[in-house]
Amino acid sequence: MEFMELQDKTHDETKQGQAYFPASNGLNSYKKLFYIESYGCAMNFSDSEIVASILQSEGFGATKNFEDADLVLLNTCSIREKAEMTVRKRLTEFRKTKESKPGMLIGILGCMAERLKSKLLEEEKLVDIVVGPDSYRSLPSLIMEAGTGQKAVNVLLSRDETYSDISPVRIDSNGINAFVSIMRGCNNMCSFCVVPFTRGRERSRDAHSIVAEVKGLFDRGFKEITLLGQNVDSYYWMDEQKDEIVTFAGLLEKVALVNLELRVRFSTSHPKDITDEVLHTMAKYENICRNIHLPIQSGSSRILQLMNRTYTREWYLGKIDRIREIMPDCGISADIITGFCTETEEDHQETMSAMEYSKYDYGYMYFYSERPGTLAERRYEDDIPEEVKRRRLHEIVALQGRLSRESNARDLGKSFKVLIEGDSKKSPLDWMGRSSHNKVIVFPKNDEATKKGDYVWVKVTDCTQATLIGQAVK
Ligand code: SAH
Ligand code: SF4
Ligand code: F3S
Repeated sequence: MEFMELQDKTHDETKQGQAYFPASNGLNSYKKLFYIESYGCAMNFSDSEIVASILQSEGFGATKNFEDADLVLLNTCSIREKAEMTVRKRLTEFRKTKESKPGMLIGILGCMAERLKSKLLEEEKLVDIVVGPDSYRSLPSLIMEAGTGQKAVNVLLSRDETYSDISPVRIDSNGINAFVSIMRGCNNMCSFCVVPFTRGRERSRDAHSIVAEVKGLFDRGFKEITLLGQNVDSYYWMDEQKDEIVTFAGLLEKVALVNLELRVRFSTSHPKDITDEVLHTMAKYENICRNIHLPIQSGSSRILQLMNRTYTREWYLGKIDRIREIMPDCGISADIITGFCTETEEDHQETMSAMEYSKYDYGYMYFYSERPGTLAERRYEDDIPEEVKRRRLHEIVALQGRLSRESNARDLGKSFKVLIEGDSKKSPLDWMGRSSHNKVIVFPKNDEATKKGDYVWVKVTDCTQATLIGQAVK
């Protein structure tokens, strides 16, 4: 069954099906061309940069047109059924092109590769190469094998792979914002979620390599980095040389100290793990952005228990209080699932009241989509009719729309330090940037000396549900 998905349009961070266009490395001696398209979460987009790095060192150049490519790669997501359907459709298109270009190889990477293993290659004959998220180092040899007509599959999950030593190729980048993976996998077992099965056990990356990557980015002019992990608050790394344990709060501090002109963001936080230490570290450094993405999933303690989220409604709302106490100006956003197994109207109302209480600035909202192999699929019946899921989703999207408008209205008349990311989508006469609390702000370019990557103070004069509109101030 396919469920319609809705997202609050106030935020479009989750890019879908975006192709990468690496800049030329100046060598025109590429043996072959690759094309890569990524779906799903930021981790996948970040992984595609690692894959691009591996391929470039094998002499592959990148192309924007899959028709020109010798190697077409899809980095895929399995989080909801719809995500997989999109990828299947795309694979069929690639397959058609391959008919007139038989030498072309098609590879599937990421979570769907891990979940379906060799099925897409052997049974459905849609692809030539299958590579799971922990096996990208084996891509060169798999490409060789596939080139000689062998089955090229590697879906081994690892307990220690973090690709620490591979320097990601920043492709399709605005030169200002970059993702930095700090950990891989997830040890939580939220009953609805496929990630622990597709990404394996949680492991944290060497803190020195993270700090070195961030320094490198800053030296190349990047102004904002986002530390990525499925559950960043459980970052844990032992520095054996110094006999020091680095927690997420410790890592945040090290990264913030790389340069106070560099903005630091992170995603995603789990309500059970985010500590006061993290909140105090955020409060201490102005360059750690005042924004926390804290998925609630449901506002009903009974549903949260079935979801195996390991916190209650009260615990979650207590975390919201704590964030507001320590950082009154902190932006807060969330993910919400409607129509999880057995969800009643009362449970749904509890989600709505928790949203009201939390006053989210924006949110990502989804229908529950049953995923094969998850705890929920094995234990509970997916018993909420589609029209009920759809109606509840519409209700929470509408509510979040109001909350987003109210949140933006509260910013009218205030001034924010904005990092300019580029031209506004609507007009080249306006700049687009973001505030520390992660709101998009658009304002006229009235100072010729101002450029992309600069910090500018902007006073908010108007707003829509999705955007703040303002004027630069001295
Ligand atoms: N690690 C992050 C989220 C990863 S998945 C966290 O724990 O917060 C991103 C979001 O997708 C989840 O927060 C959840 O809201 C949604 N999601 C995950 N599995 C889903 C499913 N089976 N059906 C619908 N939405 C789902
Ligand atoms: Fe999935 Fe839960 Fe892990 Fe997030 S914390 S990736 S929702 S299992
Ligand atoms: Fe999707 Fe895998 Fe990310 S399932 S959300 S791409 S971890």
